[in-house]
Amino acid sequence: MVKLNIEPVRGMRDVIPPESKFVEILIRRFEDVARKYGYEPVIPPIIERFELFALKSGPEIRRSMYVFKDKAGREVCLRPEFTASIARIYLKHFLPKPKPIKLYYVGPAFRYEEPQLGRYREFIQVGVENIGDHSVYSDIELLLILRDYYRSIGLSGYTVRIGNVGVMRGLFTRWGIQEDVQDVILHLIDKRRIDDVQEILKRYADAELDVISYLMGVRTTDPDELEQVARKFSKYGDVMNEVARLSKLLKVTRAMGINTVADLGFARGLAYYTGFIFEVTVPSLNVSIGGGGRYDTLIKLYGGPQTPATGFSLGVERTYLALKASDSLPEVGERRVMLISLIDDYTYVDRVSEVLRSQGLAVNTRFTTLSKLGDALGVASRMMYDYVAIIGDKEFRSAKVTIKDLRKREQRTYSIKELGEGESIWI
Ligand code: HAM
Repeated sequence: MVKLNIEPVRGMRDVIPPESKFVEILIRRFEDVARKYGYEPVIPPIIERFELFALKSGPEIRRSMYVFKDKAGREVCLRPEFTASIARIYLKHFLPKPKPIKLYYVGPAFRYEEPQLGRYREFIQVGVENIGDHSVYSDIELLLILRDYYRSIGLSGYTVRIGNVGVMRGLFTRWGIQEDVQDVILHLIDKRRIDDVQEILKRYADAELDVISYLMGVRTTDPDELEQVARKFSKYGDVMNEVARLSKLLKVTRAMGINTVADLGFARGLAYYTGFIFEVTVPSLNVSIGGGGRYDTLIKLYGGPQTPATGFSLGVERTYLALKASDSLPEVGERRVMLISLIDDYTYVDRVSEVLRSQGLAVNTRFTTLSKLGDALGVASRMMYDYVAIIGDKEFRSAKVTIKDLRKREQRTYSIKELGEGESIWI
């Protein structure tokens, strides 16, 4: 006999109850909120062409991708995220449709990273993408969805760091720095490797390192402070419009009850961002629980027309960890009944359990004998069932069921009709 290794592969996890139940709730609530904002679901494939992500994912994600050849020799990968797939799907299916196109998604993503708390090689992302809208409102709306979602699951105490890579990109473009080099510098800024940033900027005669250093130090909750920055560097014209745009966003979102903090030295790991970016953190985790931003050039890069786009993704496992750490996991709200039958009339048992299910109860059926009834009741109580429904000979003959409420320690016998009408029984 082979002794099978029952450990999941490193970086992979078995998600079992109760965590799996919370994960399910966190996903369902996200779908509810996204739908309420007019977003529609898409289900992209898990396997995509490697080149789709290789083009603009940034070095970190590219390095951590699961890449392999399928049986026909195609170079494919397990998706490390959804945004690139959504841009592809937009081009294939939505191009002629009126804009904006608002889509949401849920599913696993894969990154071969070093596992640690909250960092897995397979994780679930939920997210939204809004394609075809350039307005500052479409960025604000992302944070409103986030706010409503966190409210619906009871998450508080989070911070949303906001920035705008359009500021740095705009300056780099003025200084003659090409886009691929810009991506590298932004990656270094993201890692706060200022010496390396300096090394690269030195190669460009027009580049002003002190401006970059100054901007990297601007971190504020005060929109006026951003306005001042915009005025201070007004000689950079349009570029500073992006600072003004961030100031507006900061002002509005703070007024809407979102704890946003603007940071001009903030960049993200993904290379496709062109403007507004954000990341959500909680004090209990040293990794972000969500992030997103504007990617106005990705669709063009894939061969489509110039199309503005903005979106975000949240890590479901990290959201769960954040809730758990603050002891605020949502109510599962599920009531469970153990249906114990002492007779073997399956048709009658089915009739009863159908009525119980119609009342929103999860019904677990067991067949046993009168002498073992005590054992079954003991199991129901140990396993924290809310109710036990007992069908004995007497109940069967009179078309009744005995219901034991394990929390209230009460017991009563009801006719099937009463059960079907009696929502008050289950309070
Ligand atoms: P991201 O920041 O790479 O952005 O990932 C978004 C979220 O996915 C993270 O904040 C985190 O919660 C979760 N996540 C990422 N890696 C892991 C991991 N190894 N283990 C557990 N959770 C993880 C994106 O993926 C972009 N597509 C977001 C976006 C959408 N931008 C525009 N639209």
